[in-house]
This record gives sequence, structure tokens and C-alpha cells, in this order.
Amino acid sequence: MNNLTFPILRLLADGRFHSGEDIARHFDVTRATVWNALQQAEAAGVQLFSVRGKGYRLPQPVGFLDRDSVLAAIGEQRAWFTLELHDQMESTNTYLMQQALTDASHATCVVAELQTRGRGRRGRAWQAGLGDSLTFSLLWRFEGGATALSGLSLAVGVGLIRTLHAIGLHGALLKWPNDVLHGYHKLAGILIELQGDMEGPSAAVIGVGINLRLPEHLRKHIDQAATDLQTVLGRPVNASNLLGSTLRHLADVLSEFECDGFEALREEWISHHAYQGQSVRLLLPDGRETQGVVSGVASEGALLVDTISGTQRFSVGEISLRGIS
Ligand code: ATP
Ligand code: BTN
Repeated sequence: MNNLTFPILRLLADGRFHSGEDIARHFDVTRATVWNALQQAEAAGVQLFSVRGKGYRLPQPVGFLDRDSVLAAIGEQRAWFTLELHDQMESTNTYLMQQALTDASHATCVVAELQTRGRGRRGRAWQAGLGDSLTFSLLWRFEGGATALSGLSLAVGVGLIRTLHAIGLHGALLKWPNDVLHGYHKLAGILIELQGDMEGPSAAVIGVGINLRLPEHLRKHIDQAATDLQTVLGRPVNASNLLGSTLRHLADVLSEFECDGFEALREEWISHHAYQGQSVRLLLPDGRETQGVVSGVASEGALLVDTISGTQRFSVGEISLRGIS
């Protein structure tokens, strides 16, 4: 995208038609320059309507992020965070993993209006669109080693559930180890990547993607049932308030996690597990499958499953859980 693309997209944020002529006049450029800038937006996956005689418009209004609103929504802990707002980025996790190797400070949050190559676990893709998704990563540095961080993605899940409660959504549930569901449809995902020693100081890049709305052009690339906040709440959600509230709740759970480990959050996590007491299949990294009934999670985040050969523990890692209906 060129320097004009996002300024024009901000002008189009109201979701109404703006003529090429008006846009060109506003930025003191030619109509061809406007067309070129918007071609680049479309090439990056932004949906745009262009109608002869009317101009350009976005399919729906877009609530661009506002730094002051994010900080206000964080509240008292706002001074903890370094907030980096970006227009476009391939993956906030990829970027922050690189920054973490050098000088990025503890509690740096990187958020992108448009993430074009978002990642899930094991190289899977995370779909996101301009104004459709909240996509951010948070760097958290730990004095202890990475060995102690196995329950971290579960702790973050508790933070997301508290955030959803705070915005009035009470029906969301967690799916071990890293998903947030509503009505067994995926609403949000967590991707944690670690750096540092197993024993010495370590750092976690905590990536979070939350669907604000899910237009068809995104949904068609998602190979499982998915949903979004606008659908489940019946109203649009302000991305800045949601980001601020999420950071506030993450600050709380990460502090609890640093002091007492996942054990401090374990009961709360279990109370929100979508599959607690249910029959499930576990897909193991070597292609095998195990079945059983979920009995809980252990204090380091391992899933506890009652199988025909007794209770088994499954560590957070390359294992996927599937319900048996
Ligand atoms: P598991 O975590 O149990 O292994 P998963 O299928 O949820 O399973 P993840 O790596 O956690 O896998 O998440 C990536 C998957 O999430 C993608 O393969 C896709 O099915 C789904 N997905 C991608 N984008 C979205 C989105 N915006 N909303 C909901 N789901 C999405
Ligand atoms: C999953 O469900 O597997 C995790 C999805 C995580 C997506 C977020 S969006 C922000 C951050 N950047 C990425 O590339 N991935 C995470």
C-alpha cells in the first residue's frame, strides 16, 4: 500500500460513497492517484465498492482504532503499556517476535488495523479484515524460564472471558488449549510464542484475534464453525474499547499468573471449559487419536482425560481437541 491508501480509507470510514473527485481534491492529488491508492487496498484484501458516477465506499462503516480511547479503556494500568498502532501488518506476532529479540520493552502491545497474513497454531492461517477483527500481540517478559509458561495460553483465555463479561457477553466458553467459542462456534483465538531459556529469563508474545464481524469473504476461508461479536451481541463493538478492556484484563491475569502460576486461575478456567465432563477425541501429533471424558486441567495447564486405560494428561502443545456429539 502507498502513503495515501490508509488516509483515503479513513476518509471512507463512514461507509458512504465519496466521489473520486472529492477524494482527489481533499488530498490535493489526481483521481488517477486516488484510484491507484485504492487498487492497492483491494490487492491487500480490503473490500471496496466502486460505482461510476458515485465513487467509492467501504461495505460497512469502519471504526478505526483511537489511541486515547484505548488508553482510557485500560484504566489505571495504562502506564504499564507501550502501545504501537499500525495500519497494516502481515502478522503482529511475527513482527513482535522480531522486536522482542532486540529492544521491545515488557508490555509492548502491537495492534494492526489490517493484518494480512495472520497465523494460528502449526502454520494455520487466521482470517482478518479491515474493521472486521481485533488483531494484536502483547509482549510479556518473565523472570523465570519458559518451562513455567505451559499454562499461559489458558491464563490468557481466562483474561478474554473476563473481558467478554465486561462488555456484556456471558455465554462465551473456552476450548482447550487456545480458543474462545460461542455456541461452539469459534469467536477468538490465542497464539503464544516463546523466546528465551527454558530455565532463565523468558518472553512470551501473546497474539489475540477476536472477530468483531465476519463477512462472507472471510468466512469462506474458515474451515470450521465461526462467529463474531456483532452477531452474538446483536450490536457493533467498538474496537478501541475492546482492546483497552482486553489489555486491562490481561494485565490482571498475567500478574496473577506471575505470582501463583496457572493454579491461581485453574478453577475459573475449568468453570468456562466448553468440554468439561464431555466425551472428546484428542488428535495427537503422530496422527493417533485417543478418546475419553474431560475431567479437568492440571496446574500446569495439561488436559486431564479419563480414558479406558485410566486418567491421562495431555500437555499443551501439538494436540487438538474435538468434541464427540
Ligand atoms: P486446535 O487449536 O484445537 O488445534 P483449531 O482448528 O482451532 O484447532 P488453531 O490453530 O487454533 O486451530 O486456529 C486456526 C484455525 O482457526 C484455522 O485453521 C481456521 O479453522 C480457524 N480460523 C481462522 N480464522 C478464523 C477466524 N477469523 N475466526 C474463527 N476461526 C478462524
Ligand atoms: C488460533 O486460534 O490458532 C490462534 C489465532 C491467533 C490470531 C492472532 S491475530 C494477532 C496475532 N498475530 C497473528 O499472526 N496471530 C495472532
